[in-house]
Amino acid sequence: MNTLLEQDQIRLDNYISKVKERAAQFLGYPIAVDFNYDELLPLLRYPLNNVGDPTVESTYDLNSRSLEMEVLAFFADLFRARAGEWWGYVTNGGSEGNLYGLYVARELYPKAMVYYSEATHYSIQKNISLLNMPSIVIRTQENGEIDYEDLCNTIKLNRHLPVIMVANIGTTMTEAKDDIIRIKSIFKENAIAASYIHCDAALTGCYAGFLEPKPPFDFRDGADSIAISGHKFLGSPIPCGAVIVKKIYRDRIGREVPYIGTLDTTISGSRNGHSPVFLWYRIRQLGLDGIKRRIEESLELAAYTITQFQSIGITARRNENAITVVFPQPSQQVILKWQLATDAGRSHILCMPGVKKQHIDLLIADIKTGI
Ligand SMILES: Cc1ncc(COP(=O)(O)O)c(C=O)c1O
Repeated sequence: MNTLLEQDQIRLDNYISKVKERAAQFLGYPIAVDFNYDELLPLLRYPLNNVGDPTVESTYDLNSRSLEMEVLAFFADLFRARAGEWWGYVTNGGSEGNLYGLYVARELYPKAMVYYSEATHYSIQKNISLLNMPSIVIRTQENGEIDYEDLCNTIKLNRHLPVIMVANIGTTMTEAKDDIIRIKSIFKENAIAASYIHCDAALTGCYAGFLEPKPPFDFRDGADSIAISGHKFLGSPIPCGAVIVKKIYRDRIGREVPYIGTLDTTISGSRNGHSPVFLWYRIRQLGLDGIKRRIEESLELAAYTITQFQSIGITARRNENAITVVFPQPSQQVILKWQLATDAGRSHILCMPGVKKQHIDLLIADIKTGI
């Protein structure tokens, strides 16, 4: 077996040490780091590829389609999709799921107007540009949730057009959730004849179904497609995600590709065959109870974080049932040390599984001493 040159070995060892060190000071992004996939290491020796449609077998047999289908069934269930009436695939992340949702919506309603709030993740704007769709940005309320009045007034001006709505189920900065039942009532008020709701539930989708009260975001509430990130709340060494849509929509997109022996229904051709295994393993390891416990612990930690900020005279806030705590931007040193996402004078902490009270205490101490 080829080995690395000594200087390359040193370079790699240093890099690995740095990753370990930085993973211990990682509070500003919605990424769980509390996983261990060592049992799956043997799979790193195989080129797993789920090219094409997960529901159609391919002649490329080195794939993880059967596990991918179990992962998708888990999410379809969590999102209360009707049995046998959903379709989806494991994506490279939330952004791709958003692209897919918008792509499906555009194929259904090519003349529609897309609406999304100003707190929406940048992937939506980019995907809308890629798909060349017309769109209007709607104001947000103070907490990051869409301004329903502005939405209603804007839709009224374009009521002759079908509506494609991107609802945020957990915005990036404040984890605000748009209420899709309320949004649907706005469609009704304006006698909108054709509409489509895509839910960007990148972080929150994995646990929104366990929250009380449950935010309206799923298929029974009126969603047409839902995208989540897999590497966020569940945790994965490789970015990944899932998108679930109503099955009838996918049938409008698929094309047969004889050389891979499957349907071309996904955004990318070759698809990561390892990430469905990671997700499958994590879901089976945790089970519904484990996921529920994770969110309870995270919510508890978020409440603790707010009180710790209070104790040093800083007002920190969070939305109802959110694990994102927002506070005034601290010093640049603190931002860099704890990898805090910062925008318009505000920073946030994500109380992700794996973050402990000690991490919060250390951050608070740093802010207090003004390092
Ligand atoms: C609300 C929201 N949507 C989409 C994304 C994009 O997800 P990904 O990074 O998995 O592509 C993010 C990422 O932080 C997000 O916060």
